[in-house]
Amino acid sequence: MKKIRVNLDRKSANAHEIFIGRGIIDRMGLLMAKNNWASRYVLVTDSRVAELHGDRVLATLRGMNLAVDMIQFPAGEASKTVRTCLDLVERLLALGADRKSALIALGGGVVGDLTGLAASLFMRGIPYLQAPTTLLAQVDSAIGGKTGVNLPMAKNMLGTFYQPRGVFIDLAFLDTLPEREFANGLAEIVKYGVIEDPELLKHLADEAEAIRGRDGAILERLVARSCRIKKGIVELDETEKGLRRILNFGHTMGHAVEAATDYGMAHGEAVAVGMVAAARISVALDHLSTDEGERIEAVLRAVGLPVRIPGNVSAERLLDGLRMDKKKEGADVHFVLLKKIGIPFVNGGVPEALLRKTIEDLQS
Ligand SMILES: NC(=O)c1ccc[n+]([C@@H]2O[C@H](COP(=O)([O-])OP(=O)(O)OC[C@H]3O[C@@H](n4cnc5c(N)ncnc54)[C@H](O)[C@@H]3O)[C@@H](O)[C@H]2O)c1
Repeated sequence: MKKIRVNLDRKSANAHEIFIGRGIIDRMGLLMAKNNWASRYVLVTDSRVAELHGDRVLATLRGMNLAVDMIQFPAGEASKTVRTCLDLVERLLALGADRKSALIALGGGVVGDLTGLAASLFMRGIPYLQAPTTLLAQVDSAIGGKTGVNLPMAKNMLGTFYQPRGVFIDLAFLDTLPEREFANGLAEIVKYGVIEDPELLKHLADEAEAIRGRDGAILERLVARSCRIKKGIVELDETEKGLRRILNFGHTMGHAVEAATDYGMAHGEAVAVGMVAAARISVALDHLSTDEGERIEAVLRAVGLPVRIPGNVSAERLLDGLRMDKKKEGADVHFVLLKKIGIPFVNGGVPEALLRKTIEDLQS
C-alpha cells in the first residue's frame, strides 16, 4: 500500500493522507477506529455503487464494530443538485446524525462532490472521508477538497472548498468499472503527464496495452503518480487562485465538445479531443513544437481515447459553447496552452479564427 501526505497550510487540520492499494477498505476501518474521527458514520453512495459494493463495505466496517449506516441516491450526474443535497441532510437528521457524526463518500465524483458539500454544510461542518470508486474520482475529484452541485444554468455553480480527513483509494473497485468510465479517468492521467510529467506520458505510451487491460501493478503506479501530481498542485493553490487552473488543460474545448454532442461523447473522450485542440493551438501560436503536439495525440490514441471531433458536430455550436464559457469567466476564453510538455500556461485569449480553424482541422 502506498501513502501520500497532503500538506495544506491554510489550517494544519486540513492536512490528511491518501492511501492507495487493493482491498484497503478494512484498512480504512482500522484507521476510523484508531483516529476517532467520529462516534458514528454514514456511508453515502449512489444506487449503482450501492448495488455492486455497498453491502460488502457496510459489512466490513460493521464487522470492525464501527457504527455505520448507509444512504444512497440515484446514480448519475442528474443527481448532483441542491435538491439531493437537502435530501441527504434530511436523511442524516432522520438517522439521528449530529456534530459527532462523519460521512464517507463511497462512489465516483458525483458522490464525492455531493457528500463533501453536505459534510461542509451539515451543522456547519462535520468530517468526511473519500472512498472513490471510479478511476476519475481516484486520480482527480477525491483529491483537493472541491465540493459542489450543479445548477440548471451551469455545472458546479454551488460549492465549497472542504478537505476530507483521509482519501482511501481501493483499486479493487475498478474491477467493476465500465470501459467508458475507465476511459474518463485515463484522460485525466494523460492530462497530468502533459502538464506536469513527460516521464509519465512516456510510460503511458510504452504501457498502453497493459493499461487498457487494467494491469494491477501498473494501475497502482499510475494512480499514485497522478495523486502526487494533483496534490502537489493543490498544496500550492488550494482555492484555485492561479496555478490550479492548469488542471483545466483540455477542458475548455472539452466542455464545449461534450455539450455540442449533447453529452453523446463522454467527459473523458471530450477532454481527450480538447487536449488535442489545446496542443494544436499551442503549436499554431508557436509555443509548442509540432513534434510534441503529435506526441500528445499519439499517446491519446494509444490508450484508446478519441482525437477527433465527430463530423456531425457543427463548428458553430462549438464556438457558441466556447463563447458561453467566456461569459462565465467574464473575460476572454482562458485556454491552458503549452510551451513544452510539462510546461503549461494560461493564455489570455485565443483568436476566434484560430479556434474555428482548429475545430475544422479536427473534423477532417
Ligand atoms: N471535485 C473535483 O475536483 C472534481 C474534479 C473532476 C470532476 N469532478 C466531478 O466528478 C463528476 C464525475 O465523476 P465520475 O466520472 O466519477 O462520475 P459518477 O460519479 O457519475 O460515476 C460514473 C458512473 O459510474 C458508476 N460507478 C462508480 N463506481 C463504480 C464502480 N466501481 N463500478 C461500476 N460502476 C461504478 C456510478 O454509479 C455512475 O453511474 C462530475 O460531476 C464532475 O463535475 C469533480
